Formats: sequence, C-alpha cells, structure tokens
Amino acid sequence: MCGIIGYTGKKEAEEIMLDALEVLEYRGYDSAGIAVCGSDGGVQIRKCAGRVKDLRSLCERVKVSGACGIGHTRWATHGGVSDENAHPHMFGNVTVIHNGIIENYKRLIGKYDLQEKLQSQTDSEVVAAVLEHFYNGDPYAAIRKTVLKLKGTFALGIMFGDIPDTVFAVRNVSPIVIARAEEGSMMASDVTVLGQYSKEYFVLPEFHVAVLKKEGIELYDMSGEAVEPQWLTVSWDVNRSSKGGYPFYMEKEIMEQPEVIWETIEPRIKNGLPDLESDGIPDSLLKECSHICVVACGTAMHAGLVGKALMQSLVKMHMDVELASEFMYTDSLVDEKTLVIAISQSGETIDTLEALKYAKKNGAKTLAIVNVKGASIARESEHVIYTNAGPEIAVASTKAYTTQLAVLYLLTGRMAYVRGIFDEAKTKEFTAELMRVPAVMQEVLDRREEIHYIARSILNAKDVFMIGRGLDYSILLEGSLKLKEISYIHSEAYASGELKHGTIALITEDTPVVAVITQDKVQSKEFSNIKEVQSRGAEVILFMKESYRLDQDAAWDSVFKLPEMRDEFMVMPVSAALQLLAYYVSLDKGLDVDKPRNLAKVVTVE
Ligand code: F6R
Repeated sequence: MCGIIGYTGKKEAEEIMLDALEVLEYRGYDSAGIAVCGSDGGVQIRKCAGRVKDLRSLCERVKVSGACGIGHTRWATHGGVSDENAHPHMFGNVTVIHNGIIENYKRLIGKYDLQEKLQSQTDSEVVAAVLEHFYNGDPYAAIRKTVLKLKGTFALGIMFGDIPDTVFAVRNVSPIVIARAEEGSMMASDVTVLGQYSKEYFVLPEFHVAVLKKEGIELYDMSGEAVEPQWLTVSWDVNRSSKGGYPFYMEKEIMEQPEVIWETIEPRIKNGLPDLESDGIPDSLLKECSHICVVACGTAMHAGLVGKALMQSLVKMHMDVELASEFMYTDSLVDEKTLVIAISQSGETIDTLEALKYAKKNGAKTLAIVNVKGASIARESEHVIYTNAGPEIAVASTKAYTTQLAVLYLLTGRMAYVRGIFDEAKTKEFTAELMRVPAVMQEVLDRREEIHYIARSILNAKDVFMIGRGLDYSILLEGSLKLKEISYIHSEAYASGELKHGTIALITEDTPVVAVITQDKVQSKEFSNIKEVQSRGAEVILFMKESYRLDQDAAWDSVFKLPEMRDEFMVMPVSAALQLLAYYVSLDKGLDVDKPRNLAKVVTVE
C-alpha cells in the first residue's frame, strides 16, 4: 500500500525521487522519505511524517546530493505515523524501503537478537537488520538468505553503503516495475511514474533480484543465474498521469470516462458484435461454464453486482458476487464448471489475488478484468481482459469502475450470443446501445453544474440514505461508497422495498434521501417508496429518467433528469451523476478529494 521508487544515473536523485513520490502518493500518504547515496559513498536519509510536500520542504532546508537513491511514501501498518517509522530504514551498512507486510517480523527480532537495536516500530526495519546480519560483502547472498527468512509480502529497494550507485530490488507479491531511462535505471511500485522516462519496462518477477546501475539493469533468479527480462511497452498516455488543468484527479478522471469507455469497447466490437478474440478469450470459456462467480473488493465488487444483474436477466446465467476478503473463509463452492472473474483496477489487491488463487486450486476457470497491465492478478489468471482506463490516480475509483462495467457488458453480449440466447440481430442491438454509452455519459458530464447545485443540499448532512430497486440499487451501493469515502458523510444504500423493515426509523427531516429511478418495471413502486420517506420529512434528491412524470402533489426538492438508454444501460449515466454528486460535496467541504483520510489506492494487506 506504500509507493516505492529507486533511481541511479547521471541526474540528481533527490529531484527525480521527489517528483516520483508525488505521483506515487496516492498509494499511501502518511509519511515520506528518501535515501541518497552521495559521491563520497555515504548514504543520507531525509524523512518525516506528513505528505511529500513536507518532505520536499525538509530537503530544501537540509540539502542532500547524489545520483543514486531510494524513496518511499507510506501507508502505516506496523508502527504509528511518526518520523522514525517513515522509510527508508538504515541498519548498519544497509538501507531499505519496503512495501508489504513481514508477518514473522517479531520472530526475526527474537532470532537475530534485535530487541535493543531497532530505531522504529516497523516490520520493515527488521528486514534491513536481517540483511545486515547476512551481509559479508556479497549482496546477492545476503538478499537470498534474507528473503528465505521472510514470511509475508514485500517489495524491497535496497542500498549497501559500500556499493555506491547501485540499487537492488526484490519482491514477493507486492509490485515492482523496472525501466531503463536515458539518464539511468529506475524502479517503482507502478508504471505511472516510469512513463515519462521510458516506454519500455518490465515487471520484476517474484523472488528474482534486479540490480540497477547507471549503465544498465541485471536480473538474476534465486540461484544466481542471469535471466532475460520480459519487456513490456507503456501503453498509457503520459498526459493521463497529470491533472490536465483540473483541480483534482478525480474530476479529470470522471470527465475522461466517455473517451476511456470508448477505448475499452471499440477494439472489442467486430461487425457490430462483441468479440473478445484479440484478448485470447475462447468462446468455449463462455459457453461451457455452468456458473459464474465474481471475486472483488469495494468498487470493483459493486461492478460485479451490476454484472450479476445483467447475466441473470439477459443470459439466464447463475452468478454470485463474493467479497474477495470473505471468499476463502466461507468454503465457497467453485469447481471446474465455474468461471471465476476477478475484477480489480490495480490488479494488486491482495484479497482478490488470494481469492483467485483459491479458485484456481479448486479447479475453476479464471478470468481477470484488470486495469494495470502486467499486474499480479492479471498474471495469476488464465485469461485477462484489460480495461483501457489509463492511470487512475484519485483514491476514489471512477473511470476504472465504468470501464469494468463496459467489459461486463461486452461479456454479457458475447455470452448471450455464443450460448444462443441472443440471435445476431439482438446481439447487434445490444452492442449498438453499448456504443451509445460514451455520448450519453457526456450529456450528463456537460450538465455537471446542475449536479453541483444539487450537491449543496447534502453538504451539511450527517447521514444520507440512498434508495432504489434492482439495477438502481446496485448502482446506489457504489454511489453511497463514493460519498462516504470522500465527503466523510455517513451514507447507506438501501433497496427501497427493504427500508420499511427497520431502517425507515432513521429517516427524519435531517436525513436527505437520494433516490434513483431508471427501471421501468419498478418505477411505480419506487415512487411509492419515495412518498414514504417524504411523509417522514426527508428531503429527496431524485435522479430519474427524463420521460418519467413527477407527481405534482409532492414537493420536489432537487430533481436531475437523466438522458435515456435501454433500462439495462441506465447504470452508466447514473454512475456519472452520482460520482459528480460525491465529488462536489467533497470539493465544497474543502476536503482533499484525491486523498481521503485513512485510505490508500492499492490495498496489498489482508
Ligand atoms: C473505492 C475504491 C476501492 C477499490 C478496492 C479494490 O473508490 O477504489 O473500494 O475498488 O479497494 O481495488 P482494486 O480495484 O484495485 O482491486
């Protein structure tokens, strides 16, 4: 959940690392630090609790110079947020940055008698100490021996004081990508930082040691054999990693949706039909399964819920959606007839990764829907479909979610076609409607100031309820998560019909209710449920299809009329509207929209 960076080359490492840490800050932002190997060979550390901007001012006050270094931005797990717990950690001759969790760190402290010798409360400093214990001039031997002692997940950047201008990297589960730049060699937690220096990179294989030098990169397996890296090309537009004139990444990413949804669907539509051949997805995978199970967390899990509604109503296919963190512990029933779909923006969420491994072990076929190319979940899965959302930097997921939905529509259409549920004409109609999504979403985005105005009515609320039925309920679960994570307003999504079985007791005139009505078959029931909350004094903010008629007797506070699509596609314009609602509440409350408290973009701890 932390961001790591390493650089060695001809330029000042401090400058490159501080810029990179600013980009990586979305991975964790409670403290930051860098270690720089100076021309005299000595390693100097600057670190502090706080944001990268605080580290930058520290570095301005106390200069550090050298062309090789490692840097870190932290999301605390072991040890509170403090200067001494910030990375890098130096122990004797060894300096380390770490992303992950060393589960057996307490045993290692006992085994190597470190109790009195550590400066911090972190598991990471223990790694530095064990490396120092094994180091006798041979860095590979020390790294190999140390890694064999570690239990848990780790992405490590390592410098040895007596080996100038060299950064070593090794990992298990937690990601490291490596690139050769004109000015030197770099490693980082993800490719967004490397894009501006190089178009070529490779994912460091697990339990391999990379050696970064000014002149180039070497890669070795654990037996010391040299290995050829598998180079990949950065396919993301570097400009997508900048704010592009918007005050926050979240707004920019919301606004990018029509374009990235198009980029996700267009290459996968041939002759008007969804076609997943270029992703290597055989029709047999979609034809032969008898059951689908989605494993995912948070927003990605909410995408799965929309997928379930589509698969069940259109393909008549049984589909479960499981919280990845619960999947292994509830004796989930999957077998060789099950298609398990892991959905993940980062492709690194440890719960989703572990659930995927569990599914494979139980014989299930696996398919991943992932945004980050080459990520662990993509590599672990037999099949992968990449969403072409580009880098998503804001912690709250927006465009990754709607491109996941776009892939689920493609899968639904293809599955219905190959299973003979849709004939060619019906499949083409379905695909044509999917191709309208970018334009319809654009209409909502163009009217964002209307939503900004509406957002004012919940600015001071302590609690908000969101109600809807069927697909409207699925999308409200996501809308509600967006609101709570970035505005800190307690919000709960409820299936409208369920409200009166208890929760309606909480509805008062101080509890705004957000209602969504876009499904013809439950329209009248939803209007009745709205009346129930209005009669208890609640102010209702309504998002509904523009063709629906409002009851003139009721007092309507805020209504946003949504451009129309076929019912099963209405989640797309609704998601844009609810994302904007959450965004403007957070913005107008003056909060740090992109970096909400306590969160991190990539969740690599269980
Ligand atoms: C919320 C959000 C999270 C993620 C979840 C899974 O806005 O972004 O709920 O969806 O942590 O992350 P990924 O998709 O990277 O597996």
